[in-house]
Amino acid sequence: MTMEFIKVKNYDELSKLAAQIISNQVKEKENSVLGLATGSSPIGTYENLVNEYKNGNLDFSKVTSVNLDEYIGLDENNDQSYRYFMNKHLFSHINIKETFVPSGVNADMEAECKAYDKKIEDLGGIDLQLLGIGLDGHIGFNEPDEIFEKDTHIVTLDPSTIEANARFFNSIDDVPTKAITMGMLPIMQAKKVLLIANGQNKKDILDKAFYGPITPKVPASILQLHKNVTVIFSEN
Ligand code: GLP
Repeated sequence: MTMEFIKVKNYDELSKLAAQIISNQVKEKENSVLGLATGSSPIGTYENLVNEYKNGNLDFSKVTSVNLDEYIGLDENNDQSYRYFMNKHLFSHINIKETFVPSGVNADMEAECKAYDKKIEDLGGIDLQLLGIGLDGHIGFNEPDEIFEKDTHIVTLDPSTIEANARFFNSIDDVPTKAITMGMLPIMQAKKVLLIANGQNKKDILDKAFYGPITPKVPASILQLHKNVTVIFSEN
């Protein structure tokens, strides 16, 4: 693999660098398919991309995006849904051609999973996949498991993930217990992966994921087998 591990001073630098990598991707290939992520880590990255667009330096008119995941039961109007998050932080501010986020409210979730994989395939796969990392090593919502799940699937969230994400909800009881997530195949087939992690508390899991054994117990460890990964980490 080629793995570049870049340590930066602070969140601001992380966000600027991540945005620059994404922006270079779009400039090199105007019809890029971007795999996008939610969580607190990419907020600054999206802010920088929006600014670049507003300054006239970046054009998303031929870009398509596919997001990693969504909570089951939350629709686009729910301010905790990932669709809402993406609209708020990125999509509503730029001229992006088309955006896909899996639906958490399809009556037939099996069909939703299949259709999502088909969609990614039809788009020709992902050019650049942006990822965060959960404290238990999850990417998207691929939680620690006995196997690496290949396709889009429904997951029961780990109690530690529910606890970590409770900060965004009124109470921990409001956090959905299930989610739909892209599987490992489109992530591993993405031409480039950009993983961003912020904060001292991500240090241990990054060590395990990138320097420990490759195991589905640490889902992000599969990225050691990817041919083009950049990790940007800021301890502060
Ligand atoms: C959520 C998302 C992940 C994200 C993770 C880390 O669980 N499903 O895609 O990487 O949170 O979030 P944060 O960046 O807030 O630490």
